[in-house]
Amino acid sequence: MRRVLIVGATSPLARYMAHGFAHRGDTLFLAARDTEELERVACDVRVRFGATVHTGRFDAAAIEEHEAFWQEVVRSLGGVDGVVWVAGTMEGLEEAFRQPQAVRRLIEVNLTGAASLLTLAACYFEEQGRGFIAGVSSVAGDRGRGQNYPYGAAKGGFSLFLQGLRNRLSKRGVQVTTIKPGFIDTRMTWGRDKLPFLASPQRVAKESVQAVLKGKDVAYVPAVWGLVMLVIRSIPERIFKKMSI
Ligand SMILES: NC(=O)c1ccc[n+]([C@@H]2O[C@H](COP(=O)([O-])OP(=O)(O)OC[C@H]3O[C@@H](n4cnc5c(N)ncnc54)[C@H](OP(=O)(O)O)[C@@H]3O)[C@@H](O)[C@H]2O)c1
Repeated sequence: MRRVLIVGATSPLARYMAHGFAHRGDTLFLAARDTEELERVACDVRVRFGATVHTGRFDAAAIEEHEAFWQEVVRSLGGVDGVVWVAGTMEGLEEAFRQPQAVRRLIEVNLTGAASLLTLAACYFEEQGRGFIAGVSSVAGDRGRGQNYPYGAAKGGFSLFLQGLRNRLSKRGVQVTTIKPGFIDTRMTWGRDKLPFLASPQRVAKESVQAVLKGKDVAYVPAVWGLVMLVIRSIPERIFKKMSI
């Protein structure tokens, strides 16, 4: 039995990841901003798996509250064995191409907030000499594209942050897994036509939990995205800048 914090637990992806951990007998702390929806998710997990599930409000952008939140998680769970960061947003992407406050907001939620909380988790696990951190980044962070670079830049920064954490913590018995999904069928992609390799949140969650359990460093989910991004990363910049993909 492990004690696992899941951040962004109202997202479909996190919800199915919660099932994956609860199914193995883990105790969970679910966090996000929408506390009513959180309670619904928690009830569902309790009923399905008989798991102990705590909930707490968490805002990635309210960095001044993160230390108190982390203490609350440690207290409620009686110690922490793993943290799964799923929270993310693409809200305000159009505005972020023109407005400083909008680009700041995207980076704050997707990168700064994640880095802030995971820094607290990293120090805790480092001292404990065990634990795991899994961060849901995105293939969007693998190469800057004109259509989404404010979001992609935050996710790319998050991937690098996780890579650095892994380099720091692997020597201390702490596992860090970077999860890079392609397109997932959630509200984030709602209304967008013909997205290639669009996967259900159930499938992405199942493969993400497997990646964590297997102790993977980086997992593209579904795996085909590893190949797709290998090709996309290898396109020379002088050609890539003229493409609209
Ligand atoms: N959908 C895709 O195609 C896709 C592709 C690659 C990667 N991803 C990544 O997968 C993760 C899950 O996304 P999703 O598609 O399931 O989207 P989603 O349904 O919009 O879920 C986003 C989650 O992030 C939380 N969140 C947003 N802003 C937050 C904030 N300021 N503080 C704390 N939590 C916040 C939301 O909870 P509250 O609103 O309750 O706070 C929600 O739980 C994200 O990191 C996303 O970037 C998605």
